[in-house]
Amino acid sequence: MTFDVIVLGAGAAGLMAAATAGQAGSRVLLLDHAEAAGKKILISGGGRCNFTNMETAPDRFLSENPHFAKSALARYTQWDFLALVDRYRIAWHEKTLGQLFCDGSARQIVAMLLEECARGGVEIRLSTPIGEIGHGDGVFRVAGETAPHLVIATGGPSIPKMGASGIAYEIAQRFGLPVVPPRPALVPLTLGEEAQAFRGITGVSCPVTARVGDTAFSEAALFTHRGLSGPAILQASSYWTPGAPVVLELIANAAEILSDARRRSPRSRLRAVLSEHLPNRLAEVLAAHIGLKRELGNTSDADLQRAADTLRALTFHPTGTEGFAKAEVTAGGISTDALSSRTMEAKSVPGLHAIGEAVDVTGWLGGYNFQWAWSSGWAAGRAVSARRQG
Ligand code: FDA
Repeated sequence: MTFDVIVLGAGAAGLMAAATAGQAGSRVLLLDHAEAAGKKILISGGGRCNFTNMETAPDRFLSENPHFAKSALARYTQWDFLALVDRYRIAWHEKTLGQLFCDGSARQIVAMLLEECARGGVEIRLSTPIGEIGHGDGVFRVAGETAPHLVIATGGPSIPKMGASGIAYEIAQRFGLPVVPPRPALVPLTLGEEAQAFRGITGVSCPVTARVGDTAFSEAALFTHRGLSGPAILQASSYWTPGAPVVLELIANAAEILSDARRRSPRSRLRAVLSEHLPNRLAEVLAAHIGLKRELGNTSDADLQRAADTLRALTFHPTGTEGFAKAEVTAGGISTDALSSRTMEAKSVPGLHAIGEAVDVTGWLGGYNFQWAWSSGWAAGRAVSARRQG
C-alpha cells in the first residue's frame, strides 16, 4: 500500500489529524480540492482566528448524542492546543468569554499546522478532486493511492464559495453511515413583513438575552435589513427550529424602570425613557411597536406592565435563516451513533474515520468549533497510528 492513511480535506481537522498521524510514524497523504490548505482558518475570527475557548466543555456542543464529544475533548484539550500555539511563539489574547485569538494573523495558525505536517512527513496534494473511492479487503483507494485508513475531514456545506461541500455525507452514504440532516447553524435569522419596522433599523446593535426554548445567550444582537444577527442571535440560531419564536430580553428590569420614570417625570413619554437605555433608533421603533401614546403619568398600571412585558420578552417569529451561504457552521452531519467516540472510527467500516464539522457535533460561537476540529483530528490521528504500531 502506498500510504498508511489518506486524509480527505486539508482544513482544521484534517491538518491536525494528518500532523498527529505523521508525527506518530504513519505515512500520510492529505488531499484537498482547494488550491490552499486551511482556507476557513484564514478567514476565521475576522482574520485573527478564534482558535479555541478556555471554557471548552462538552456542554458547549450540540449533537444528537451530547456525550459523544467528551472523550476527544478530554484527551486533546484547549490547553494542549494553546501549548502548541505557545511552542510556535504565536502571540494571542483573550477577547471575551474565554475566546482566544491571535494577536497577529490567522495565517500563523495555518503556517503552524503546515509545519506540524511537514514534521510528520505528510504529503499534501492540493487542487486534487477526491473522485471515486474504492474499498475492498481492508484497503481504501482514492486518487490513485491506497491505504488501510481513510479519514473524512471535508467539513460541512457552510459557505460553499469557500470550497465547502457536502461530500462528507456522500461518502458516509456510500459506506452506509447514517447522517443527521445537516442544517445551517451560527447563522443570521430572517424576519417577515410583521417585523418590517425592525428591519428598518439596520446596523443597530445592543446587548440582549436571546432565548430559544430553554436556551438563552446574553450577548449583542444586531438588526439587519433581512432580520437579526449578532453573537446572541447566531448562538440562538443553532438551537432554532422552523416555527419556533426567538425572544429578546432588552431591559431585564423594565417594570421597575418604567414605574420609576412615571413617578419621577410623569410628563415623559415611553420613547424618551427607552432612549436612556437603548439605542435611539431602536427606542423609537419599540415605542411605536408598543403603542403607548400617552405621557407616562397618564398611563395605567396595566398598560405600563404590558410595555414592560414587551421589553422583557420582545418576541419574533423568524421566517428562516440566511442559509448555508451565511452559516458559520453546519449542525448535524455524520451520526455519532456510527462512530467510536475514542477513535472516530466507523463501527461498521474498520479503517474509516470521520472528524471535525463533517460529524454531528457543533460548537457554540467562540472558538469551540476549532477546538472540536483539533480534538477529533488528534483522536483520529492517534488511532490510525496506534493501529499501525500494534
Ligand atoms: P473545514 O471546512 O475547515 O475543512 C474542510 C476541508 O475539506 C477544506 O479544506 C475543503 O476545501 C475540503 N473539501 C471540502 N469539500 C471537498 C471536496 N469535495 N473534495 C476535496 N476537498 C474538499 N470556528 C471557530 O472555532 N473560531 C472561529 O473564529 C471561526 N470563525 C469562522 C468564520 C467563518 C467565516 C466561517 C465560515 C467559519 C468559522 N468557524 C470558526 C468555524 C470553523 O471554520 C469550522 O468549524 C472548521 O473550519 C471546521 O473544520 P473542518 O476541518 O472540519 O472543516
